[in-house]
Amino acid sequence: MSMYRNAVWLVKGLQEYTKSGYEAAAKHFVPADLEGVRLDGRSFMVTGSNSGLGKATAQELANRGGTVHMVCRSKERAEAAKKEIEEQSKNENVHVHILDMSNPRQVWEFAQSFDKPLDVLINNAGCMVNQREETEEHLEKNFATNTLGTYILTTALLPALKKATDPRVITVSSGGMLTQKLNVEDLQVEKGSFDGTMVYAQNKRQQVILTERWAAQHKDIHFSSMHPGWADTPAVQTSMPSFHAKMQNKLRTEAMGADTVVWLAASAAAVKQPSGLFFQDRKAVATHLPLAFSKATPQDEEKLQAVLEELALKFKP
Ligand SMILES: NC(=O)c1ccc[n+]([C@@H]2O[C@H](COP(=O)([O-])OP(=O)(O)OC[C@H]3O[C@@H](n4cnc5c(N)ncnc54)[C@H](OP(=O)(O)O)[C@@H]3O)[C@@H](O)[C@H]2O)c1
Repeated sequence: MSMYRNAVWLVKGLQEYTKSGYEAAAKHFVPADLEGVRLDGRSFMVTGSNSGLGKATAQELANRGGTVHMVCRSKERAEAAKKEIEEQSKNENVHVHILDMSNPRQVWEFAQSFDKPLDVLINNAGCMVNQREETEEHLEKNFATNTLGTYILTTALLPALKKATDPRVITVSSGGMLTQKLNVEDLQVEKGSFDGTMVYAQNKRQQVILTERWAAQHKDIHFSSMHPGWADTPAVQTSMPSFHAKMQNKLRTEAMGADTVVWLAASAAAVKQPSGLFFQDRKAVATHLPLAFSKATPQDEEKLQAVLEELALKFKP
């Protein structure tokens, strides 16, 4: 089954996730959705915004006058990116917060001490670590960053978001999640062989399911997950070097990859869509490939949230 899923997914990816896929989809965009949209007075938190899609998103939001909170793990890289964003946007409301998303204690502490208004949270930071690696807390690194970090940051910021008018949470997942069925039994990847691409895709599936569950539970916030397509970013260059070399000319620019994030964060059109959906190129798309048998049971989906809640609480200060 996984070979079938991977093959169908690759064919789909070559058609849709590439630069030409973006260009074809963009013909159907409604330009008015983002044309002239100003974001003065609205605040956006973007994790992993010193690089790639997160930086392109932060830049676009700052260009439109939004207050941008950059959440990054490296002070040096964050400050360099902030300088560029400020210079280009002439917007001084860009703030840096240093946080390692794979450290659950730090995520709690940061979220609990964040006392500024927040309209939109963009869970963008992510990683694909190809060798099994554990954090200080003995958490598998991909899971700690992509799933648990996202889980804690989002749940801890819900009270702040609920104070906003038109609050939104956007999680940058990946189309790679289509190759995965939720596996709640081995979240830390302790069993069997370790394949970083598959672990990453499993985390991205978990993000999509969490988004659906949060949407059902918190009706006053608009949640979405999304796939940016295949964009030429440092992550793709370093974590998938052979894919990057083969696909180089076909990859999207960072701005193309960030387009749907910006659309979900800033347009009025996005919140006319139901909460909890998975987007690609400004359109809600299916979360399963045809005949892929990748749907989890409601019990497993509930269990995912329950296990994460229990684990998260262990690190709560
Ligand atoms: N590019 C694509 O084709 C593609 C496709 C599907 C999904 N995505 C998703 O898009 C998102 C952005 O990735 P990208 O392609 O733009 O790659 P990128 O340029 O490498 O950006 C990833 C960002 O996440 C940050 N990050 C990673 N681990 C972190 C941690 N523990 N704590 C805090 N920040 C951390 C990185 O910080 P450092 O600079 O310090 O490493 C960087 O700022 C990811 O969630 C990725 O899975 C990308």
